[in-house]
Amino acid sequence: MSYLKIEGVNKKFGKFNALKDINLEINKGEFLCFLGPSGCGKTTLLRIICGLERADEGVILLENKDITNLEASKRNMGIVFQNYVLFPNMTIEKNIAYGLKNKKLSKEEINSKVNEVLELVGLMSEKHKYPNELSGGQQQRVALARAVALSPNILLLDEPLSALDAKVREYLRHELKMIQQKLGITTIMVTHDQEEALTLADKIVVMKEAEIVQIGTPEEIYKHPVNQYAADFIGKVNFIRKADDIFMIRPEEVEYSIEEKEGYEKYKVKSIEFRGPFYRITADAEEELECGEIAIDMFSAIEEKFNLKMGSDIFINTLNLKKLEE
Ligand SMILES: Nc1ncnc2c1ncn2[C@@H]1O[C@H](COP(=O)(O)OP(=O)(O)O)[C@@H](O)[C@H]1O
Ligand SMILES: [Mg+2]
Repeated sequence: MSYLKIEGVNKKFGKFNALKDINLEINKGEFLCFLGPSGCGKTTLLRIICGLERADEGVILLENKDITNLEASKRNMGIVFQNYVLFPNMTIEKNIAYGLKNKKLSKEEINSKVNEVLELVGLMSEKHKYPNELSGGQQQRVALARAVALSPNILLLDEPLSALDAKVREYLRHELKMIQQKLGITTIMVTHDQEEALTLADKIVVMKEAEIVQIGTPEEIYKHPVNQYAADFIGKVNFIRKADDIFMIRPEEVEYSIEEKEGYEKYKVKSIEFRGPFYRITADAEEELECGEIAIDMFSAIEEKFNLKMGSDIFINTLNLKKLEE
């Protein structure tokens, strides 16, 4: 049985459709990512789930209970936003204790909970500091600690890592996953970053212009995207048009040869980019084929053996392709 179920949610702002017929389910303990470009409705959907916004139509069920019209404060959901919204005039410890005070806990219980979550996010030694004495990454860990301290039904994260620089973001991403798994907490995270979604999510909800395009595991969406949009949103992909159909192949799946081979088309190397473990080669179809340009990822050791140069011939198997919807 699904833990959270969203059925037929629609939302308009004036005449503008922000969400159209949203249906999805999340199981207990799952990590779900809403992935899509800016403006596609991710935050609106998150706000409807936690009760900060009302849907025009549709039903939201939590453990089979209708919470569609339940006010936000009664839903017990923890939220972390992109910008750290800590109280600047309170210490880290007090920031975390604040929400617990409404929970009718004793002073000792509050203290022990605060210490438990500070330990969890590795900020015990900073507990007497004020938010402006911490780095952005540390402040976001406090916001996370504050949200999980309340033992929420669902943890909602709205682009929590996007204000941080790349190195901190990657580190925190890993830490977030560890904490989520340790607590087994049902989590929904909004992101426009495909790498974040791929590495964190059990299930990704790909969105486009107020609608869901595909729901699946990272592997399902990467290997079996339902259309061009989903294929393009996650990872690098080549689209090849043949007659009226569009086919896809990922750069690492391309079968190539440096000698002519039956069933292979002749291409010319156009650029070679060193990416560390692999080279990304782009090549153009030599004849006026409809195939156009293709990207090929080649392990460094192989590329070095072939010693490809600009203008080198490379032969590509274009038979082994997946057909796509437009
Ligand atoms: N309160 C609002 N009033 C009017 N338009 C809004 C409001 N909130 C969001 N929108 C519009 O709805 C669309 C989706 O917004 P949002 O859910 O924030 O997208 P995302 O989080 O995917 O970037 C955007 O075009 C945005 O401008
Ligand atoms: Mg948003």
